[in-house]
Amino acid sequence: MVIKTATFVCSNTQVSALPPPTMPEYAFIGRSNVGKSSLINALVNQHGLAKTSQRPGKTQLINHFLINEAWYIVDLPGYGYAKVSKTSREKWEKFIRAYLTKRESLQCVFVLIDSRLDPQQIDLEFCYWLGEKQIPFALLFTKADKQGGTTTAKNVAAFKRKLGDWFEEIPTTIITSAEKQTGRDEVLHFIQEVNKD
Ligand code: GTP
Ligand code: MG
Repeated sequence: MVIKTATFVCSNTQVSALPPPTMPEYAFIGRSNVGKSSLINALVNQHGLAKTSQRPGKTQLINHFLINEAWYIVDLPGYGYAKVSKTSREKWEKFIRAYLTKRESLQCVFVLIDSRLDPQQIDLEFCYWLGEKQIPFALLFTKADKQGGTTTAKNVAAFKRKLGDWFEEIPTTIITSAEKQTGRDEVLHFIQEVNKD
């Protein structure tokens, strides 16, 4: 798929204020600092469209980006940031869970996982929750440029093995790097296929 246009539409804290659900949308979620905003920029080939930072907790709102005037990418705040207060974490949880369960135009959630790490409980639990709610998702392993392919493959396999205890069918898995644009074509192809249905 060719990305012709990618424009910022709006930032929200309320599900009721989102754009009308008239176009397919794809949400990016994962731990704080895992590389959600960076990967979105790499996909649309536009540095700085989604705001990124070395500090976790950069993205605080639900951000909608309109792609090719036909579908949305949604950048979400990260989970699992230790410095966030309990109250604000609970607020986040409520709002994201409401978005993920109620958004009728949501086609697929991309769960971003740091390819450098062993399976993390928080990521596994989030995947289990999506499964429980029957929300379709795919796994995008991020920052693959940071280590050799063998380490990435080992971490990906370990994560899939853990998921296998819960899921009969392991979702689509794509290894990515925003830095090197790895996996970009695969992710765009995946979206194109889902958009066809
Ligand atoms: P929050 O919005 O805070 O939840 O973070 P995020 O998941 O959106 O992460 P963000 O894209 O802001 O990236 C966090 C940091 O990781 C930044 O310093 C990025 O430059 C770096 N980063 C993201 N993706 C990659 C990648 O593929 N390779 C490398 N080497 N660094 C990356
Ligand atoms: Mg972000």
